[in-house]
Amino acid sequence: MKLTFIGNGNMAKALIEGLVSNYDIEVLGRNEKTLQTLKNKLPKITTKVIGKSEDITGKNIVLCVKPYSLPDLAPKLSGEADTIFSVLAGTSIDSIRAQIKSKKYIRTMPNLGASFLKSMTTITGDEELKETALEIFNNIGTALWLSTENELDIATGVAGSGPAYLALIAESLADGAVNQGLKREDSQILVQGLFDGFAALIANENPALIKDGVMSPGGTTAAGYAALERCNVRHGMMEAISDAYSKAKELKLKN
Ligand SMILES: NC(=O)c1ccc[n+]([C@@H]2O[C@H](COP(=O)([O-])OP(=O)(O)OC[C@H]3O[C@@H](n4cnc5c(N)ncnc54)[C@H](OP(=O)(O)O)[C@@H]3O)[C@@H](O)[C@H]2O)c1
Repeated sequence: MKLTFIGNGNMAKALIEGLVSNYDIEVLGRNEKTLQTLKNKLPKITTKVIGKSEDITGKNIVLCVKPYSLPDLAPKLSGEADTIFSVLAGTSIDSIRAQIKSKKYIRTMPNLGASFLKSMTTITGDEELKETALEIFNNIGTALWLSTENELDIATGVAGSGPAYLALIAESLADGAVNQGLKREDSQILVQGLFDGFAALIANENPALIKDGVMSPGGTTAAGYAALERCNVRHGMMEAISDAYSKAKELKLKN
């Protein structure tokens, strides 16, 4: 299958690196120098500076520009694409449909893990392309199909924003250790190892059972866990997802 990327920034590069061995890839961008740098790194791809009237007829486009670039880009595209795979945050399929002509539309939300081929990507859109879209985005991590754009907006608050929330947990656990007298470098290694091991745990076990397994009666984990509940950490996390979802809906109205 041939994929035509439009945009060659961070997300496009992560995706291309994950896909280059299995797909025929063409990259359209506006900066000849950065396109050439990408081509030097991945000689298998073809690159092209986008023309004033770029015919996208029959192409499978992976749209990788910033949402605010769409009104500038769209008038330069002519013809009708076969499929648009959009990675644009907070931009509805209706909004893309109104600007770029295509037979089918898919909206995806990769996350920061894409640069390590560990993206948690959510996908929705034309059901006919479900398997194709899952296959493409499984190349950069784990992909999950959702039934509606509304579900994708909820999931964005978890998987898209999640690295920031987990970074807060990681940083505060390390700060807690430093506060009790552990060296900063050791605290950092400790937290990295914790997250590494936890990734394997959560891949195989329900979070509630992981907690039950480590929390013995009257023990250290129970004492620490009670402190987290006293400080409303659970409520804070649920509020974070609620506010991120509200913001996603608000932004969608603007794009
Ligand atoms: N980064 C993430 O973790 C992440 C996660 C989920 C979703 N996304 C989505 O991914 C999309 C891209 O984000 P990014 O982080 O990759 O941004 P980025 O690094 O700024 O890349 C944007 C790319 O689009 C190109 N571009 C901008 N306007 C253009 C135009 N009119 N014609 C052709 N190319 C144009 C830029 O070209 P120049 O190099 O010339 O500026 C650049 O190559 C965004 O919509 C974002 O919402 C990103």
